[in-house]
Amino acid sequence: MRVIALVNQKGGCGKTTTAVNLAAALTRIGQRVLLVDNDPQGHASLALGLTERDFTLSTFDLYLTTDILVEDARVEIGPRLHLVPAGVELTAVEPKLAGVDGHEKRLRDNFLRSELPYDVILIDCPPAVGLLTLNALLASGEALVPLDASAFSRQAVAKLYETLAVVRDRRGHEVVPRLLLANYDLRSRFARDLRQELGAAYDGALLETIVHPTIRLREAAAAGRSILDHDPGSRAARDYQDLAREIAGQAVDLSVSALDHWTALLHGPEATPEGVHFVVDLPRARDVRLTGSFCGWSREGLPLRRRQDGRWECVVEIGPGAHEYRYIVDGTWLPDPHNANNVTNEFGGANSLVTVA
Ligand SMILES: Nc1ncnc2c1ncn2[C@@H]1O[C@H](COP(=O)(O)OP(=O)(O)OP(=O)(O)O)[C@@H](O)[C@H]1O
Ligand SMILES: [Mg+2]
Repeated sequence: MRVIALVNQKGGCGKTTTAVNLAAALTRIGQRVLLVDNDPQGHASLALGLTERDFTLSTFDLYLTTDILVEDARVEIGPRLHLVPAGVELTAVEPKLAGVDGHEKRLRDNFLRSELPYDVILIDCPPAVGLLTLNALLASGEALVPLDASAFSRQAVAKLYETLAVVRDRRGHEVVPRLLLANYDLRSRFARDLRQELGAAYDGALLETIVHPTIRLREAAAAGRSILDHDPGSRAARDYQDLAREIAGQAVDLSVSALDHWTALLHGPEATPEGVHFVVDLPRARDVRLTGSFCGWSREGLPLRRRQDGRWECVVEIGPGAHEYRYIVDGTWLPDPHNANNVTNEFGGANSLVTVA
């Protein structure tokens, strides 16, 4: 699962338009997507046809109420697409949580308790670096930053990199930035120069896809549907499909590194006289399996048994040597969140490592 925050403190640069239409485009290539509206303006909810009268639970409840989880607050929008809506009540999150310990991790903590049967979670943020955006970044492994062809975009990227550095240095959490030229008209000289400048300055972070300006995107939002439903043959629909493929192609399971911090670090697997004892703390999982080099990376995996305390365990006889493994949690392959010892696999993700003496 990847968690991607749509961020840019500059307003009106295409965060919500991108969140909504990228979400829809990802579902068309088979990905299961959750969109979290994390902006009191509630624009992502509106753009998918939901007004405040249409929902009772919202992102606000994920922050404020520990027993309301994603599966309680989400709304089904279409095949493979869920939305946690938001409205103006979100403005109360910051004052209500002022001074509360761990207030910057409320969203991440809620995700940890929730059932998240998704390939991608997109979090649409407000145009400010406040508590809501900080929560989104700490819950994300990637930040997608829409930039329009204006001189302010340079400053916006620089500010964002500063924010990410603070998140890294003060919270020990790494978020990988990706820059998207959105609502971007390449016909002007300025826009072409800016694209080149950003590409040179932020090597590797600038996405190839460009979302061109078009009235169709405004029309789709006004109609309360994605561009893929509103006008599937339009250039904007193609742009967002290209973006979905480009993002999906970067199949680095980056958000998994965030999982390391989500659960208290206990320890990796332990050798016992009966075999290697694997334990993983996943109280809300429905099915947990173990796979690895010792079983030929079997797709089936070896089933773990759920304990009363919500942890899952199994004991496996493994011969001496170093072995790589992953858990299959409700169908999603993840490294062991309790084991800091891992290696990069051929897909750029992490495999956990256990060494048997
Ligand atoms: N590619 C595009 N072509 C034309 N209009 C666009 C495009 N992308 C976004 N817009 C329009 O620009 C306006 C701002 O876009 P959007 O709401 O996505 O920005 P935002 O960054 O989410 O804004 P905010 O910072 O207020 O949350 C909207 O009216 C939207 O329809
Ligand atoms: Mg917005």
